[in-house]
Amino acid sequence: MAGAKVTDTGVVEIAAFDAPLGAELRGLDLREKLSPEAVRAVLQAWYDNQVIVFRDQDLSPRQLVDFTAQLGTPGVPRMPSQAVRDVIPDLPPEVMIVSNVRIDGKPLGLPHDGEMWFHSDMCYAEIPHTATMLYSVELPSTGGNTLFADMYAAYENLRPETRARLEGKKALQVHDYKRTERPGVDLDLTKVGNYAHPVFITHPETGRKAVYVNRLMTARIEGMERVESDAFLEELFSVAEDPSIVYEHVWRTGDLVIWDNRCITHARTDFPDNERRLLRRTTLLGTEAPQ
Ligand SMILES: [Fe+2]
Repeated sequence: MAGAKVTDTGVVEIAAFDAPLGAELRGLDLREKLSPEAVRAVLQAWYDNQVIVFRDQDLSPRQLVDFTAQLGTPGVPRMPSQAVRDVIPDLPPEVMIVSNVRIDGKPLGLPHDGEMWFHSDMCYAEIPHTATMLYSVELPSTGGNTLFADMYAAYENLRPETRARLEGKKALQVHDYKRTERPGVDLDLTKVGNYAHPVFITHPETGRKAVYVNRLMTARIEGMERVESDAFLEELFSVAEDPSIVYEHVWRTGDLVIWDNRCITHARTDFPDNERRLLRRTTLLGTEAPQ
């Protein structure tokens, strides 16, 4: 989807990617305060395209938070990352560092090395954050791309029998800090973040139905025998990861990318472990559990 909207701050040009989803928004310097019209145009473009990209931005961590706050209420990462604060003492609490860089052998927060399977940020929480924003600072020479999969399309592409069988069912989402492994069968749920959300959810802004399971964090479908649950999950994953519904973002330094965790899953491609990759992340708080 594309379009163009004239705003007080200039023209927001919306250039849809030659891909199943996603668009680049041009004409805004995100260091500047946006007009109310520009905020509306950005949010509408985000609802319409699911992933929006601003290129060539030059944002300090504080400016990233100030921009984020114009679109909603910024979330604060749950993980206390003292190692990061030691190295970057003035890092705002709303900013999480997503990086494979280590200082004196210690990762900057959760280590973000190499490949990561498809997932939806914070789906294991009762009220996940709605948006994730990533701003790229340092990138490897190759790889570390972000794959975005359209969960509206996944819902539409499911077999009608599968949709009917799973309607009203819930799936257990867990966070056990893995990157390329299914949640274990003997998970101790007292030790990992977890929450059961509907398998299909309705986006509160667009009214469209979306698949809300993913390979990395969905442990099982509630109320089913394991064999049946595993079979349905495999079917869901294969439809939800089909390349026909995926946009692959190849990062450039200065990209600010915003995606919608209610209708998008994302994954990271592998990259050389001897090269630095560092991005800064903010989120927008959700106000209700997905339904
Ligand atoms: Fe993520």
